[in-house]
Amino acid sequence: MRLFLDTADYDEIETAVGWGVLSGVTTNPTLIARAGQDHETQVKRICELVGDVSAETVTERKDELVVEGRRLASWHKNVIVKVASTPDGLAAGKVLAGEGIRINVTLCFTVNQALLAAEIGAYIISPFVGRLDDIGEDGIAVVRGIVDAYRQQSIRTKVLAASLRHPMHVTQSALAGADIATMPFKVLEQIYKHPLTDIGIERFMADYRKTQEPQPARR
Ligand code: G3P
Repeated sequence: MRLFLDTADYDEIETAVGWGVLSGVTTNPTLIARAGQDHETQVKRICELVGDVSAETVTERKDELVVEGRRLASWHKNVIVKVASTPDGLAAGKVLAGEGIRINVTLCFTVNQALLAAEIGAYIISPFVGRLDDIGEDGIAVVRGIVDAYRQQSIRTKVLAASLRHPMHVTQSALAGADIATMPFKVLEQIYKHPLTDIGIERFMADYRKTQEPQPARR
């Protein structure tokens, strides 16, 4: 499972690239607004740091979405165009996919929506795990269902577990067979952490420092 950051914050992305674990980034209008930058400028900057950068469309009708999707894709070869799982979004996605543009179908909440995305030749399907959990459903079960259905149908669309809120969501996404997990920077930091790792380092360092102290002379 590849790890993506769900952010438009340049510093966070640069840090994770430095850690050597980042394969891509997902953005959306909320995250771009939070970064306080113009959409095009920020997406282009991110594309210079990492491959596979999803940029979201913000129009609603098929024809507008096609024009917008082409514009987003023209920004950089790393851009993957995000369309929502609606009739217009999927129809536009099909046109764009036919032109060789990689499509990420977002706001997916069911296996059936994932089957529709596969039908239009989507490169990525994004089930939103946390938002399903928020309404008392099982987000990870939907990821598992999509992975199983795709496997049975020999569908190659990649399953990207999105709206992950905590470390267990990452583990569960991997166990469910997701191809990609996208997460906020805070969650990426959290998955590095274990108290026993910290305690272990403290002990090793303390013992190492002892070996650096002057030793009593031997007779
Ligand atoms: O990747 C989708 C993500 O941005 C949504 O996350 O936490 O707002 O549901 P959240």
